[in-house]
Amino acid sequence: MEAKLQNRVQRYGWDAAAKFYEEGWRAQLMPAQRTLLEVVALVAGEKVIEAACGSGLVTKEMAHAVGPSGEVLATDLSQNMTDLTRANCADDGLSWVTTARMNADDLAVAEGRFDAAVCALGLMYVPEPFAAVQSMRRAVRPGGRVVATVWGERRNCGWAEIFPIVDARVQSEVCPLFYACGVPGALAHDFARAGLTGIAEHRQKEVLEFASDRALLTAMLVGGPVALAVKRFTPQIMAEVEQEFLHSVRDHRSSDGRYLIPGEFVTVRGRR
Ligand SMILES: C[S@@+](CC[C@H](N)C(=O)[O-])C[C@H]1O[C@@H](n2cnc3c(N)ncnc32)[C@H](O)[C@@H]1O
Repeated sequence: MEAKLQNRVQRYGWDAAAKFYEEGWRAQLMPAQRTLLEVVALVAGEKVIEAACGSGLVTKEMAHAVGPSGEVLATDLSQNMTDLTRANCADDGLSWVTTARMNADDLAVAEGRFDAAVCALGLMYVPEPFAAVQSMRRAVRPGGRVVATVWGERRNCGWAEIFPIVDARVQSEVCPLFYACGVPGALAHDFARAGLTGIAEHRQKEVLEFASDRALLTAMLVGGPVALAVKRFTPQIMAEVEQEFLHSVRDHRSSDGRYLIPGEFVTVRGRR
C-alpha cells in the first residue's frame, strides 16, 4: 500500500477508534506496556519522547517516573488520540506532559533533545518501521535509549484472522505489514541498521482476556486498526464480519462466554 494512503487509513481509523480504545484494550495491553516501562527504566528528571502515544496509557506511567522535573512529549498521528492523551494527563495533573500530532517516522524535534524515545504498539502501523526507528534514534542524545514494543508473530496471535476477514470486504489492505515487525530479529535488525547499539529483544507470550462476544468485537472492530474500514460496512456486512471473526476464535471461547486468546509481544531496546 502506498505510504500516504496507509497514513490516512491509520490517522482517520484511529480517530474513529479513540473513544473505544481503552475499553477495548487497556487490560490486554498492560503486560506488554509494563515490559516496555521496565526496559526503558526512566528516572526522575529525564526527558522522554513517545511515538504513537494513543490515549496516553504509557504516557501517564512515564510522567510519574520522570516526575515534574522531567518532561514527556507524547506524539501520535491521530488528532483524537493526541487530544485524549492531553486530556487524560491534564485530568491527572501531569502538567509536565506536552502533546503534538506527529508521524512516528518524522518526529519534528531538535536532534538529541531527549534521554529516551519509546513507542508502544505503534510501529506495526507505520509504512516503514525502519524510518520510525531512525527518527527515534535522532531524537535521543548520544547514549540515550530507544525502546519499542510490537505484536509478535502472527502464528502466536490468536486474533489474527481479523485482518483477512476485513480485507476481503474493502478495496485495499487495512494493515499490510502488521506482523512483519514481530518476526524474530526483524525489529532488532532495524535497530542495528539505524546505528543503535546494545540491542536486546525480549519476547513475551500472554493470554488476552475478553469478557464476552461484545467486548471482543468492540476491541477488534471499532476500537482498533480496522475501525475506519468497518465504518463503511452496511449492517449486513458488519453482521457477517462479526460472525466470521467469532468463528475464527471459537477455540478460545470458554464455557462462561469469556475469550482467552493467545498473544505475543516483542520489546526491543538499543542505545544511540
Ligand atoms: C494500538 S495503539 C497504541 C497506543 C499506545 N501507545 C498504547 O500502548 O496504548 C496504536 C497507535 O498508533 C498510532 N499510529 C498509527 N500510525 C502511526 C504513525 N505512522 N505515526 C504515529 N502514530 C501512529 C495510532 O493513532 C494509535 O494511537
